[in-house]
Amino acid sequence: MRATGTVRGKYRVHGPPPRTRSREHTTVQTLLAKPVTQIPDGDLATLRRKARDCHACPLWKRATQTVFGAGADDARVMLIGEQPGLQEDVQGLPFVGPAGRLLDRALDEAHLDRTTLYLTNTVKHFKYELRGKARLHKRANAAEQAACRMWLAAEVARLQPRVVALGAMAAQTLFGSTFSITRERGRWHRLGPDTEGFATWHPSAVLRTPDEQRARVYRQLVQDLSEIVKRIAADG
Ligand code: URA
Repeated sequence: MRATGTVRGKYRVHGPPPRTRSREHTTVQTLLAKPVTQIPDGDLATLRRKARDCHACPLWKRATQTVFGAGADDARVMLIGEQPGLQEDVQGLPFVGPAGRLLDRALDEAHLDRTTLYLTNTVKHFKYELRGKARLHKRANAAEQAACRMWLAAEVARLQPRVVALGAMAAQTLFGSTFSITRERGRWHRLGPDTEGFATWHPSAVLRTPDEQRARVYRQLVQDLSEIVKRIAADG
């Protein structure tokens, strides 16, 4: 709250500027750095059911289905990607396409069992542009990310897991708009009294990296994922 006594006194008479009032009144407290206006109720199964009919932004109109998070309901670690791709849109599950296969390989090498994790995305619908008959991935814009953020906030609130952001979209949602993966990847940040997280490369970014650097970036991803194993082991 920025207001001083004098300013607050002035507001009492005249009312605050409308933008300030609406922001203060509609934002709820979450573990995410970016603002969320509401958190849907219910356990993960209920949230998944409610999200099927989400019309909070226009992406639902052209997507096959909502791709909600999936994995262990008691997962202590949540991996958060950006948005579903073509395969995820068709199958209704996160990380089942090419990026998911690379992630599976990296998880294996880091000795992490995918079935013990919860995988989700920052945005839950596939966004694409048509090139002939092909549906080509298009990045969700700020308004679409903001509209979808309540679902991620709800998933994090229900599970209270350690969180790992894969790529800039998830990292900035969790840690703020100025967060840089290049500068800060692999470093734990506290997100609340009971949880913490870090960010690392998105598997698609590894796939897009030029041949001569891909192996190095992939090793960094595996090394960062190994941090999770160390942290869990330290818990005892
Ligand atoms: N990329 C993502 O960010 N998420 C997926 O589920 C698939 C690809």
